[in-house]
Amino acid sequence: MKLANKKIVLGITGGIAAYKIPSLVRLLKSEGADVYVVMTESAKAFISPLTLEAISEHVVYSDLLTSDNGTIIHIKLAQMADALVIAPATANTIAKIANGIADNLLTSIVLATKAKLFIAPAMNVNMYNNIATAKNLKTLKEYNWQFLGPECGSLACGITGKGKMSSPEELCKYICASFTKEDANSSQSNEKPLVKQDLLGKKVIITAGPTQEPIDPVRFITNKSSGKMGYALANEAQKRGANVFLISGQVNIEAPNNVNLIKVDTAEQMLEAVTETLPSADIFIGCAAVADYRVKEVNATKIKKENTDSLTIELIKNPDILQTVGHHISRPPLVIGFAAETNDLELNALKKLEKKNADYIILNDVSNSDKGFNSDYNKVTILGKNGDKIELEKSPKSEIAEKIFTICTKGITN
Ligand code: C5P
Repeated sequence: MKLANKKIVLGITGGIAAYKIPSLVRLLKSEGADVYVVMTESAKAFISPLTLEAISEHVVYSDLLTSDNGTIIHIKLAQMADALVIAPATANTIAKIANGIADNLLTSIVLATKAKLFIAPAMNVNMYNNIATAKNLKTLKEYNWQFLGPECGSLACGITGKGKMSSPEELCKYICASFTKEDANSSQSNEKPLVKQDLLGKKVIITAGPTQEPIDPVRFITNKSSGKMGYALANEAQKRGANVFLISGQVNIEAPNNVNLIKVDTAEQMLEAVTETLPSADIFIGCAAVADYRVKEVNATKIKKENTDSLTIELIKNPDILQTVGHHISRPPLVIGFAAETNDLELNALKKLEKKNADYIILNDVSNSDKGFNSDYNKVTILGKNGDKIELEKSPKSEIAEKIFTICTKGITN
């Protein structure tokens, strides 16, 4: 019972995902929470207040201008709440909260409460990526809202993309973990929590693996990256409680459970996936071995050797994803890149740090095959724009990932 004695005010706004909220209420109650539902007018078009009254075992609130036995209802709910959860949260409600508008019961509670704040955005992918929404989401982060999703998936509008509300199971798990962490921190016990959930609520984007740049329908240019380092980073971020988006080239390893895996082939597809995911991200780690060049004109049919004795393929430059993120309007507060070098290691890495506007570059000596590409081990030096230079011993990539997060996320972690 991770939520025993906790009072949760659960705000429902007018998104199709509202139909999933009875399951969330049930799950929260099964963890011991007392759940009070508040609905906006448009939420009632998607789910009946009566259903939620029956499941929550409390009256459902939606009128601002009313009193409850002489008490002012939005103040009463705001004060009693240990947590305020808004799920699903529409772009409209998010915009109101970002601007301090209190024109209904739910948004008035938001202004009056000191409870822990959780929000589960759910909307069409274009609405989610809209610059105004991105700005509002960023503001909510600054106001200490913990984000629950959204995830990539098939949306109610028929499009596949980012904007799907996380499942009730995920939402409940996250809320429980947040309280568990708080209880562990506030207890006098010296015992360490099993997993440090210091990235709870943080959105982390990681690119991993090689890209494949097509020559014709059956051939492509690629490189030796196995994806192991990027997947180890995704695993570590996930263990620390982050909402992880792993944007991966084609690799032969399994992604950790519970990360949002977006598989791509080419550098251009990787860039598109990164920029779509970027709004409201806290951390970006460019670990992919992105091809620097792609074929200018991809042959529509298989190139035949009978037709020619020599073959010249013209290459053009690919976009630099890390550099794009480093200079992007939605640049996350922490940007980390990798530099796989064979010569002039430190000098090249420092140049990249500056050119790509990264906070850290993880320098990776790939001149020897027992570390770096395709190995389970790595030996790296962490170079920070703050002047940090930390050499890590050769160790398994999982341990390197742990150290990278410990060192580089100071100031970002909860
Ligand atoms: O410039 P170089 O390719 O050596 O830089 C390596 C770093 O930049 C890595 O973090 C890699 O993921 C990133 N990168 C990128 N897009 C490219 C080339 C590299 O994001 N086109």
